[in-house]
Amino acid sequence: MMSDNVNNQRQLRLGAILHGASGNMSAWRHPDATADASINLEFNIASAKKAEQGKFDFVFVADGLYINEKSIPHFLNRFEPLTLLAALSAATDKIGLVGTLSTSYSDPFTVARQFASLDHLSNGRAGWNVVTSPLEGSAKNFSRKEHPEHSLRYRIAGEFLDVAKGLWDSWEDDAFVRNKASGEFFRPGKLHTLNHQGEFFSVQGPLNIGRTPQGRPILFQAGASEDGKRLAAQHADAIFTHHDTLEQAQDFYQDVKRQLVEQGRAPDDLRIFQGVSVIVGDDDADVERQYQETARLVSIENALNYLGRYFEHYDFSRHPLDAPFPDIGDLGQNSFRSTTDAIKRSARERHLTLRQVALEAASPRPVFSGTPEAVADGLQRWFEGEAADGFIISGGTPNAFGHFVDRVVPVLQQRGLFRQAYHGATLREHLGLKHPLNRFTQ
Ligand SMILES: Cc1cc2nc3c(=O)[nH]c(=O)nc-3n(C[C@H](O)[C@H](O)[C@H](O)COP(=O)(O)O)c2cc1C
Repeated sequence: MMSDNVNNQRQLRLGAILHGASGNMSAWRHPDATADASINLEFNIASAKKAEQGKFDFVFVADGLYINEKSIPHFLNRFEPLTLLAALSAATDKIGLVGTLSTSYSDPFTVARQFASLDHLSNGRAGWNVVTSPLEGSAKNFSRKEHPEHSLRYRIAGEFLDVAKGLWDSWEDDAFVRNKASGEFFRPGKLHTLNHQGEFFSVQGPLNIGRTPQGRPILFQAGASEDGKRLAAQHADAIFTHHDTLEQAQDFYQDVKRQLVEQGRAPDDLRIFQGVSVIVGDDDADVERQYQETARLVSIENALNYLGRYFEHYDFSRHPLDAPFPDIGDLGQNSFRSTTDAIKRSARERHLTLRQVALEAASPRPVFSGTPEAVADGLQRWFEGEAADGFIISGGTPNAFGHFVDRVVPVLQQRGLFRQAYHGATLREHLGLKHPLNRFTQ
């Protein structure tokens, strides 16, 4: 059974982001935080098990390829995503394992092989968050003269995914017969060589690992620019995005679903996940107390560094803090384009000062906060309002994710919006997505 719909009611999906101590950049200082969470295997196993207890679809690990001394603490000392997910696959049973890897600084053969391995290791729970890498400094770590420009990165990504998908089709499902009596290990007719010659890659194949339990790993895409949406509509099974308001999220949702149809795909072929932070409390005062307890740990210097990273590590400290957000021209266009556009637009429209923009970026108020019922109401409104097919939850404080699993998930389950038990074994089944055909046998 592919779908876990109960009584045909559309079901929402949930992912959990594993992001250090969670909360904001300084939350490692919180009394309840695990200060070394980013590099602590036991902590990550406990978090993944908590998400699995909550019947989450997947855990999600973000990544970056460049740091300097101004990067946030979590980025300075953390696990490489696939290595961490391989360890988590042995400690969990059902939950999907989604990790970030860059198409701008990797080779398709290696990446296809790594995610195929994770899919086999985990019995069909692997997902790849395809990113093009926003940080300019990444070039300096990969022997490159310069960071590829935004649209070039997306052209490379398109061909990269074509190649990776072709490599994942190298073997048919039943290629390996391993017949001890006859000596036949595999059926030659079930092996396919890609022979790809393109603009950026030439890859012969075949891949040296068999077709995976999910046919191929689930593909996530996280860029929200026009190029990013196009790539997702062509190739992805899911999008990880972020919007501050219901209206913005609905516009994005409709745009992506329309582009899917333009690409000859069904609207249901891709799941749109809104990344949301949450704080769950007994009442508004309790939520505010929890928020302030974490927010006050962020100094204005830390917040300026945090903001600067989105804008190619720009030094915002040269501008007056309490004057309107400075005009910095096109800065950010070649890095986190969709995010920096949103920050500039919000500062302009709401007449914010630099201090306000920096603190808001570094310690945002959670999109959904309140009692368990209030948080569930918010998620339900966005889900039923077609702003999201699901949510990637990040705790707004170090304790918030546990509160969400213990207190909000049961409300969503009682409302029939979320599964009470896993019905499938693979991430593809959790997400209710079709098994892909092999391009060589269609
Ligand atoms: C919600 C979200 C999550 C992202 N996660 C990552 C990540 O983990 N690693 C990364 O290198 N880039 C990440 N990105 C950056 C994008 O992959 C992309 O490189 C960048 O946003 C520029 O592309 P865009 O203008 O299409 O958004 C993320 C972006 C968004 C919006």
